[in-house]
Amino acid sequence: MNPMRVAIFLLLGLLCCTSACAPSGQPAPDPGAMWAVPAGFPEPPQPEDNRFTPQRWMLGRALFYEKALSRDSSIACASCHYAAFAFSDIHPVSLGVEGRPGSRNTPPLANLAYHPHFMREGGLATLEQQVAVPIQEHAEMDFNMVEAAERLAADPAYRQAALDAYGRQPDPFVLTRALAVFERSLFSGASAYDAWTAGYAELPPSAERGRILFFSERTGCASCHGGFLFSQFELLNNGLYMDYADPGLERLTNRPEDRGRFKVPSLRNVGLTAPYMHDGSLPDIQAVLAHYNAGGKEHANQDARVRPLDLSQAELDDLEAFLHSLTDWAFVSEPAFQNPKREE
Ligand code: HEC
Ligand code: HEC
Repeated sequence: MNPMRVAIFLLLGLLCCTSACAPSGQPAPDPGAMWAVPAGFPEPPQPEDNRFTPQRWMLGRALFYEKALSRDSSIACASCHYAAFAFSDIHPVSLGVEGRPGSRNTPPLANLAYHPHFMREGGLATLEQQVAVPIQEHAEMDFNMVEAAERLAADPAYRQAALDAYGRQPDPFVLTRALAVFERSLFSGASAYDAWTAGYAELPPSAERGRILFFSERTGCASCHGGFLFSQFELLNNGLYMDYADPGLERLTNRPEDRGRFKVPSLRNVGLTAPYMHDGSLPDIQAVLAHYNAGGKEHANQDARVRPLDLSQAELDDLEAFLHSLTDWAFVSEPAFQNPKREE
């Protein structure tokens, strides 16, 4: 981990500790206020049978930090998805129970309510469906939904919370629904760039030059990373390799033309989510920019918009400054998204 990120991590730790150590009687965050669509974002869809309620959200947050969902009770969702890193982590590929390495980089969890599909190859349609994957995956939590739910049902506090949220006992239905409600509430839209969009503030000169480059035809970045989330979540091949070890979308379709196609990541908070790409193979933003500047490795499926760009180092620095303007510090330090047990 680079020293800058260690410093940020410690700083955030301190901030969290300040709120955690607040004298008792300090008002806890109001769960009813946690469905907070950022100004300028559209109202996202919610499943009819699983709309936001404060009770569902509170249960979902508790479960997100619950280690009992893993076989040996050693890891929680939050062991890979850290709030401080926009709910991603610092490892190239994720580490599960017993330190088992996975095969992919942990993606950030922000603005998931707008994603049309989940996982790096976009194979799952809803957050509710996604929950079962990490719980059952051998290199993640290596457990199963039924036993995980039984563990929760043995705890009177969870029984009451499930009753309050869904009118039933903790079971796989409650587990998947509540976690999805919490995840859907992870809105992030308060970066320096958003202040600029709203007309409140200028961007620093370097970031402003980077913004113009990012949205230019010359770089083409915004043609794939477009819209208010800096992605339309298409599945594309950005020419990372000549030979992909991970098949990407081909894993689902078995079609060679889908090899190496991955979900275009949102670039919000990208300054906090290193290392990059589906396999975490690029250590920092400069490495990503060098990849695009060189025009990719020319895989047969590489999208034509990735091509040599001939940008100077000063222009690459401007692009990097722009990408850092997409960091939402309020989001990553939001006390309500932290482990509720620390609030006691
Ligand atoms: C061992 C680390 C690890 C744990 C534990 C873990 N995840 Fe993940 N998560 C990942 C990785 C790696 C991916 C990417 C998987 C892929 O694309 O195949 C991922 C993907 C996701 C996605 C899809 C994001 C997107 O942009 O498509 C969601 C949502 C998610 N995880 C939520 C959870 C929840 C909820 C839990 C707890 C039940 C959890 N994760 C536990 C590592 C982890
Ligand atoms: C053809 C579409 C396309 C274009 C053009 C494109 N990207 Fe990407 N970008 C992608 C895809 C697809 C990925 C994910 C690849 C993977 O997971 O291996 C990605 C990944 C990234 C990442 C890593 C994010 C993360 O969380 O891992 C960054 C940063 C990025 N792109 C920035 C840019 C910039 C800056 C430009 C312009 C110089 C650009 N992209 C141009 C499609 C594109």
